[in-house]
Parts: sequence; structure tokens; C-alpha cells
Amino acid sequence: MRLLLLFLLFPPLIFSLNQEVLYLQRVKLGFDDPDGVFSNWNDRDKNPCNWYGVTCDSVANSVNSLDLSNSNIAGPFPFLLCRLQNLSFVSLYNNSVNSTFAGDFSECRNLEHLDLAQNLLTGTLPDTLADLPNLKYLDLTGNNFSGDIPASFGKFQKLEVLSLVENLLGGVIPAVLGNISTLKQLNLSYNSFLKGRIPPELGNLTNLEVLWLTDCNLFGEIPDSLGQLKRVKDLDIAVNSLNGPIPSSLTELTSVVQIELYNNSLTGVLPARGWSNMTALRLLDASMNELTGTIPDELCSLPLESLNLYENQFEGNLPESISNSPNLYELRLFQNRLTGDLPKDLGKNSPLKWVDVSSNQFSGEIPKSLCEKGQLEEILMIYNSFSGEIPVSLSECTSLTRVRLGYNSFSGDIPVGLWGLPQVSLLELIDNSFSGEIAKTIAGATNLSALIISKNNFSGSIPEEVGYLENLVEFSGGDNKFSGSLPASIVNLGQLGRLDLHDNGLSGDFPSGIHSWKKLNELNLADNKLSGNIPSEIGSLSVLNYLDLSGNQFSGEIPIGLQNLKLNQLNFSNNRLFGEIPPLYAKEMYRTSFLGNPGLCGDINGLCDGRSEARSLGYAWLMRSIFLLAGVVFIVGVGWFYRKYRNFKNAKRAIDKSKWTLMSFHKLGFSEYEILNALDEDNLIGSGSSGKVYKVVLSNGEAVAVKKLWGGSKLADESSDVEKGQFQNDGFEAEVDTLGKIRHKNIVKLWCCCTTRDCKLLVYEYMPNGSLGDLLHSSKSGLLDWPIRYRIALDAAEGLSYLHHDCAPPIVHRDVKSNNILLDGDFGARVADFGVAKVVDKIGKGTKSMSVIAGSCGYIAPGL
Ligand SMILES: *[C@@H]1O[C@H](CO)[C@@H](O)[C@H](O)[C@H]1NC(C)=O
Ligand SMILES: *[C@@H]1O[C@H](CO)[C@@H](O)[C@H](O)[C@H]1NC(C)=O
Ligand SMILES: *[C@@H]1O[C@H](CO)[C@@H](O)[C@H](O)[C@H]1NC(C)=O
Ligand SMILES: *[C@@H]1O[C@H](CO)[C@@H](O)[C@H](O)[C@H]1NC(C)=O
Ligand SMILES: *[C@@H]1O[C@H](CO)[C@@H](O)[C@H](O)[C@H]1NC(C)=O
Ligand SMILES: *[C@@H]1O[C@H](CO)[C@@H](O)[C@H](O)[C@H]1NC(C)=O
Ligand SMILES: *[C@@H]1O[C@H](CO)[C@@H](O)[C@H](O)[C@H]1NC(C)=O
Ligand SMILES: *[C@@H]1O[C@H](CO)[C@@H](O)[C@H](O)[C@H]1NC(C)=O
Ligand SMILES: *[C@@H]1O[C@H](CO)[C@@H](O)[C@H](O)[C@H]1NC(C)=O
Ligand SMILES: *[C@@H]1O[C@H](CO)[C@@H](O)[C@H](O)[C@H]1NC(C)=O
Ligand SMILES: *[C@@H]1O[C@H](CO)[C@@H](O)[C@H](O)[C@H]1NC(C)=O
Repeated sequence: MRLLLLFLLFPPLIFSLNQEVLYLQRVKLGFDDPDGVFSNWNDRDKNPCNWYGVTCDSVANSVNSLDLSNSNIAGPFPFLLCRLQNLSFVSLYNNSVNSTFAGDFSECRNLEHLDLAQNLLTGTLPDTLADLPNLKYLDLTGNNFSGDIPASFGKFQKLEVLSLVENLLGGVIPAVLGNISTLKQLNLSYNSFLKGRIPPELGNLTNLEVLWLTDCNLFGEIPDSLGQLKRVKDLDIAVNSLNGPIPSSLTELTSVVQIELYNNSLTGVLPARGWSNMTALRLLDASMNELTGTIPDELCSLPLESLNLYENQFEGNLPESISNSPNLYELRLFQNRLTGDLPKDLGKNSPLKWVDVSSNQFSGEIPKSLCEKGQLEEILMIYNSFSGEIPVSLSECTSLTRVRLGYNSFSGDIPVGLWGLPQVSLLELIDNSFSGEIAKTIAGATNLSALIISKNNFSGSIPEEVGYLENLVEFSGGDNKFSGSLPASIVNLGQLGRLDLHDNGLSGDFPSGIHSWKKLNELNLADNKLSGNIPSEIGSLSVLNYLDLSGNQFSGEIPIGLQNLKLNQLNFSNNRLFGEIPPLYAKEMYRTSFLGNPGLCGDINGLCDGRSEARSLGYAWLMRSIFLLAGVVFIVGVGWFYRKYRNFKNAKRAIDKSKWTLMSFHKLGFSEYEILNALDEDNLIGSGSSGKVYKVVLSNGEAVAVKKLWGGSKLADESSDVEKGQFQNDGFEAEVDTLGKIRHKNIVKLWCCCTTRDCKLLVYEYMPNGSLGDLLHSSKSGLLDWPIRYRIALDAAEGLSYLHHDCAPPIVHRDVKSNNILLDGDFGARVADFGVAKVVDKIGKGTKSMSVIAGSCGYIAPGL
């Protein structure tokens, strides 16, 4: 009975809710729902008011809000929703609604809030949207809408928020938007609008609180009318091409909190007066314009929080009044023409965090109160004319992270505490007149990554504590007066990329254990008084690129390991080194790298002459005459001998040991004679396209493989000498040139090579298991199980990868085949036989010769 009464009272409502269930279920069917957000939208629960995202009006008992934001649903926009008569709020924010937005909005009469931001909507904005009589909030941010903003948008009756940020909209910003008098937020940033102006009509939007037009391709002047936006709090017209002056009407924006004008082409001066009426202003950014004149005192009297005026042409002083700002945390004025002292109370009342006044013409001292509130993180003052000492207060500022005081005229000792500030990552004092020592307190600077103190008057020894700075990447202390030896601990700096201490008075030996400088790229210890040997470990600094040890007193030989490095800059000049220059560097281009070491010899013109320079001119002349005479005698003798020798050779084709020249690429434990004596047919282990291969067991028990190249004796005829040379050089020079430079565990090692006029030998490490090709096709192929084959493939690939990617210039082998992959005792593979390898100098270059087919039968190397 009571139930019946209920029915009699509310029949239409029950009916309408049932209808809404049907509509909603059809909406559900239209979406792809991988996360199952619609799982409780089902028949068991007939009351949609309990469904996920659905809210009902309790009085009308019908659906009035649908919030499916962040639900990962995909599909077209469900226009059917408009059938829900009382629906006023729809949010599908951050989903994959992927249709165009064309449909029938006429039924959405009650819709007030429509949020479709961050979806995949495409096509043009529908004209008819403006017909929604109650729409207050329209957010279409982050879709792919294109085309113009429709003129009909001027007709919105109640719209308060319009956001079309980050779409692909074209055309220009229509003036009719100035007719939406109800508008509070107009956000149109980041679209691909055509070049256009700010419509002055926007000044009619007197309810506007936010005008956000960043990166909208705007040019022309800022309209005076914007001064009428009495309620605007946030005016952002940055990153456009606006030009002309900042209108003085802007100072009439009495509610504005934030003004962003950066990265335009604004000219002229800031309004001198009127700022005091902008009592709400907290943030002003007019950086990256062409503004001139002074920074108005009235502006600085406001309780600003952030003032960015960098990259302009401001001149004059920074007004004292700025130091009264109780909330100023950011002050960036770099790259202007500001002069005079900084306000002496700067920071006294303000929780300064970031101060950047670099690249101006400021002078005077650092204000003592800069870090008074203990918030200061960055102080950047480079390229000014500041002077005086660093205030002690700054050395107690533990919040500091970046300190850049370089290129000024500061002087005096650094307050002890400054060295050890715990959070500082960059301490740059370069090019001042600082003096005194690096304090031991530097041990506390645990986050220090760059210590740049070159070009000062620092003295004393570098404290052991520097070696405790495990995050240190750069230590530049050149052009100072440091003395004593390098601290032993300095080798602990595992992150170090650059160590530059040139032009000091450092003495003593190279520290030992430098192999832990795994990341060291630049080592400059030039012009000190360092002595002792250059440690052989230097060859293990695999990323070292710049090495300057010139102007010291280093002695001993140059470590052969230097050949492992790829150096752009090498300077060992003016030391006391002696012995042989490592072959790789015994080249003309490195001549200047070794000058001024009287004991150093190499194949470079004029190097050993260094010794005679020291003696008297007369003595040199005498020596030269003797050499000349001896030379003439020698040439005549050689001519005579040669004729004799030819006869002798024809009679007996033996190898004349005295005429061998040896080129070695590693430290050898054997002599060429030992090898020559063992080249008989008993030791022959193979014979290939380019020559015979012998196995030679040396007196020290080690074995080497010797490849004797064909040619020579086969072409004994004198007249074909040129041809013969060509024939031999093809394989030989290529192989020697290439292999001599390479060091890699998967590339066969070339110990040395011996040459005479008509015979050439290459001495390799011996590979007990021979070539992969031989093994595969022999009875022993059973030895190669799959794990071994896999490893061989991997090894060979690593060798090739090294040739292609790590050699500079890259090397193309051009004859990779199983016969050219050799196996050591453990079946480790190495790439061999570089007879046709090609050094690829530059793309484009060398292509001519590459068109020649290279390689051996059965394998043809691909062109490049
Ligand atoms: C968007 O929604 C997904 C879930 O579909 C969520 O993981 C992500 O955090 C949301 N993104 C934003 C910006 O809210
Ligand atoms: C929209 O998304 C649905 C579900 O992922 C997909 O089936 C449909 O093809 C998409 N439509 C468009 C136009 O991309
Ligand atoms: C709900 O919609 C019905 C039908 O259009 C209408 O009569 C009623 O006034 C609406 N109620 C509310 C609270 O909007
Ligand atoms: C939206 O536009 C961007 C940029 O033009 C494009 O990369 C993206 O594929 C577009 N997405 C859709 C859904 O159209
Ligand atoms: C904008 O408002 C002005 C003044 O009320 C009116 O003349 C003009 O027709 C309106 N424009 C549009 C497109 O509504
Ligand atoms: C419009 O921009 C302002 C300022 O960036 C922002 O606070 C507001 O949330 C934006 N409105 C919408 C609807 O995105
Ligand atoms: C809107 O602004 C323009 C230019 O600023 C002005 O000419 C026009 O009269 C204004 N319209 C209304 C309705 O205030
Ligand atoms: C300045 O604006 C131009 C476009 O007007 C843009 O290309 C450039 O990246 C912007 N520079 C900065 C630093 O924002
Ligand atoms: C500040 O505002 C008052 C009242 O609105 C006005 O009379 C005065 O001229 C303004 N001051 C300046 C410098 O614009
Ligand atoms: C250390 O410095 C790095 C920058 O080099 C910074 O990102 C980090 O926050 C700093 N850590 C501490 C504890 O200060
Ligand atoms: C360095 O200090 C010496 C005295 O120790 C002084 O004569 C010299 O002028 C100073 N040089 C610089 C550049 O300050």
C-alpha cells in the first residue's frame, strides 16, 4: 500500500531515471574500456546514481554530473549524453576521446561545465558550441583541433572559462572574443596561429582574471586597452614578437599579480611612474627584450617576489628600494648594462634564493646581507667589476649550491668556511686576484663537482683533502702560485674529467695510482717543476684526450702505453725525457710535442739535432762538414756495393740479415735474427693468397706466426721494379698500417714487421687453434660445440665493431670470412688478415677506390 503511494507520488521521476539508465548504457557501449571503469554500470544495479563517475541531483533524482576523467577510455565523443536533461557537468579529461567534435549540441541545454582537455579530438571547433545557453566552462586544452576559432564564439552568453591551449588552431585570435563579457579566463597559448595582433577588444573583458597568450605568433604593440583589465591577475603574453614600448596603461592593472612579457621584441623604457598602484604585483618577467633606460625605483618598492629583467639593455643602478622587499626570492638581471654598487642591504629583508647579476658593469663589494635569511642557493656575479673581499657571512651560507664570482676584481683570502660549504656543486672564482691557500675545510664540500679557481694568486700546497671530493669532475687551478707536490690523494678522484694546474710552482713526482682516473679527459700540468718519470699507467686512461706536461722536469722514457690513447693534444716539450719516442708518435705532426728534450730520439726531422743546438756554432759547422763528407763517401760506396751485391745476389739467393729493417709495434722479447733463422719449410704451417705462414718458437719459449709475403724473388727483373713495389705494397702497407695502430683483444696482434727490398715479413702472435675456416672443415670440427661457436661469433663481432666504431678513422676489413678468423688456445677468436682493409677517412672520400671489388673468391665486400 505504501509502495503504491510512492509510485503515485513520483511516477515521472522513476521513468526518467530508467531512461537515463538506457542512455548511459549506450554511452558505455561506445567506449573502449581497458581498465574496466564501467564495470559497475550494469543491470544488477538499476540506480545509475551509484555508478562510477555518475552523480545525481538528490531533489530531481536525475543524473547531473558525469566525471570520467583519467579513466583511459577511448572512443568518439558521446553526443547521446545530451539526452540527459539535467546533466550540467561533464569531464572526460585525460582520456582518448578521438573523434571530431561534430554533432548535435542543441539538446545539451543544461550543460555548464565541459572538460575535454588532454584527449585526441580533431577537426574544427564546432560553431554551435556557442549556442549552449548555460555553458560557463569550456576546456579543450591539449587536443588536435585545427582551423580558426569560430566567430560565433563571440556569442557565448555565460562563458567564464575558455581554454584552447595546445591545439593546432590557425587563423588569428578573433576580436569578437572581446564580446564575451562574462569571461574570466582566456587561455589560448601554444597554438599555430597566423601572425596577428592582440585584439584591442580584449580590453573590454573587464571580468577577465587570466589572459594567457604565450607563443601565439603575436606581433605589433601591446594595446593600451589592456590597461582596462582591472581584475586581471595573470597577464602572460610571453614568447611572441610583440614590439614597441610597454604601454603606461599597464600600470593601471591594479589587481595584477604576475606579468610575463619575456622573449618578445619590446623596446623603450619601463614606465617610470604608476607602479605604486599595482599593489598586488609579485612577479614581473620582462627578460629577453630590447628594453632600455633604468629600473624604476617605484617598481622596486613593490613587495615583489620575483624580478626577471635579464637580457635587455637596462642601465643605471639597481634601486636601493629593492632590499625592502619582504618576499623577494628571485632576482635575475644578467646581461644588461647596469652599473654602480648592489644595494648594500640586499638580502637583509628578503629570502633570496637565486641572484644572477652576471655580465653587467656592477662594481663595489658583495652585500654582506645577501644570505641573511639563509635561503640563498645561487649567487652568479661573473663578468662584472666587483672588488673587495668575499664577506664572511657568505661563507656561513650553507644553502649555497652554485657560486660563480669569476671575471671580477675580487681580492684577499677566501673565508675558510666558503671552501667547505656542503651543498655547493660549482665554486667558480676564476680570473680575480684572490690569494691565500685552499683551506683544509674543503673536505666538507662533499657535493663539489667543479672547482674553478684559475687565474688568481692562490698559493701554498694543494691540501690532501681535495682528494676526498668524490664528486669532483673539474679542478681548474691553473695560473696561480701553488707549490709543493700534488697530494697523493688526488688519484682518488674517480669522477675527475679535467685536471688543469698549469703554470704553478708544483714540484715532486707524478702521484702513483693514476689508473683510477677512469674519466679523465684533460690533464694539463704544464709549466710546473714536476719531476720523475711519467708513469706507464698513463696509457690506461682510456678517455684521455688532452695531455700537456710541457715545461716540467720529467725524466726517463716516454711510456709505450701512450700509444693506447687517442689524443687531440699532446705536449711533452721542454722536459728531460730521453730514449725513443713511441713509434705511433714518431711522426712529423707531433714534432712540436717533443721539442726541448735533448735526450729524446725519433724519426722526426731535427729532433735529435736538439743536442747540437746547445753546442757552439763552430762545432756544429765542423760536425756538419764531417757528416757531409762522410755522406758523399757513403753514397759512392753504396753505389759500388750495390753493383757488387746484385751479382752476389743472383749467385746466391740468401737472405742478407744486415739489410733488414724492423718496425715494431710492441715491446719485443726477441730479435729479428731469431725469426729469420727459423724460416724454413719445416716450420711452414700455411700458405694463403698473399704469402706463406711459418710458426716460429722463440728462445724464450713463446711462439709467433710469421707471414712471408709473396713477391720479390719471383719478379727479379730489374725493369719491373715499380710494378713489383705496387704488387707488394697492396697487401703489405695496408696490413701494417692498419694493424700497427690497433689494439684490441679480438684483433690479432702484430708484433712487428721486417722488410727488405724484396721480401717482407709480418710477425704476429701465434694462434694455436688456427683459423676458424680450417677447423670447421677439418676432422676436428667436433671440438666446436655450440657455446664455443656462439662465443667465436661474439668475439669476431666485437673485433669488427671495434674496427667500425672505435677506430678513428674507421676501418673496413673487406675480407671477413672464416679463414680470417683465428682462434687462440681457448678458442677465443681474433680477426686477422687485413690485406685489403680500407681506412674510411670521410664519407664521400675514398669512394672511388671502394668501387673496386675487394676480397677473396667466395666473398665480395659490400660497397659503402
Ligand atoms: C592520465 O590518466 C592516466 C590513467 O589513464 C594516469 O595514469 C595519468 O597519470 C593521467 N595523467 C594526468 C596528467 O593526470
Ligand atoms: C578511436 O579509438 C577506438 C578505440 O581505441 C578505435 O577503435 C577507433 O578506431 C579510433 N578512431 C579514430 C578515428 O582514431
Ligand atoms: C531536470 O530535467 C527536467 C526535464 O527537463 C526538468 O523539468 C527539471 O527542472 C530538471 N531539474 C533540474 C534540477 O534541473
Ligand atoms: C596530433 O597532432 C600531432 C602534431 O601534429 C601529431 O603528431 C599527432 O599524431 C596528432 N594526433 C592525432 C590523434 O591526430
Ligand atoms: C560584439 O559586440 C558588439 C557590441 O555589442 C556588437 O556590435 C557586435 O555585433 C558583436 N559581435 C558579435 C560577433 O557578436
Ligand atoms: C588558464 O591559465 C591559467 C594560468 O596559466 C591557469 O591557472 C588556469 O588553470 C587555466 N585554465 C584552464 C581551464 O586550463
Ligand atoms: C570594445 O573595445 C573596442 C576597442 O577597444 C571599442 O571600440 C568598443 O567600443 C568596445 N565594445 C564594447 C561593447 O565595449
Ligand atoms: C623565444 O621565442 C622564439 C619564438 O618567438 C622561440 O623560437 C625561442 O625558442 C624562444 N626562446 C626562448 C629562450 O624562450
Ligand atoms: C594611482 O591610482 C590613483 C587612483 O586610481 C590615481 O589617481 C593615480 O593617478 C594613480 N597613480 C599613478 C601614478 O598613476
Ligand atoms: C649536489 O649537486 C647536484 C648538482 O651537481 C644537485 O643536483 C644535488 O641536489 C646536490 N645534492 C645536495 C645534497 O646538495
Ligand atoms: C700576487 O701576490 C703578489 C704578492 O704575493 C703581488 O705582488 C702580486 O701583485 C699579486 N698578483 C695579483 C695578480 O694579484
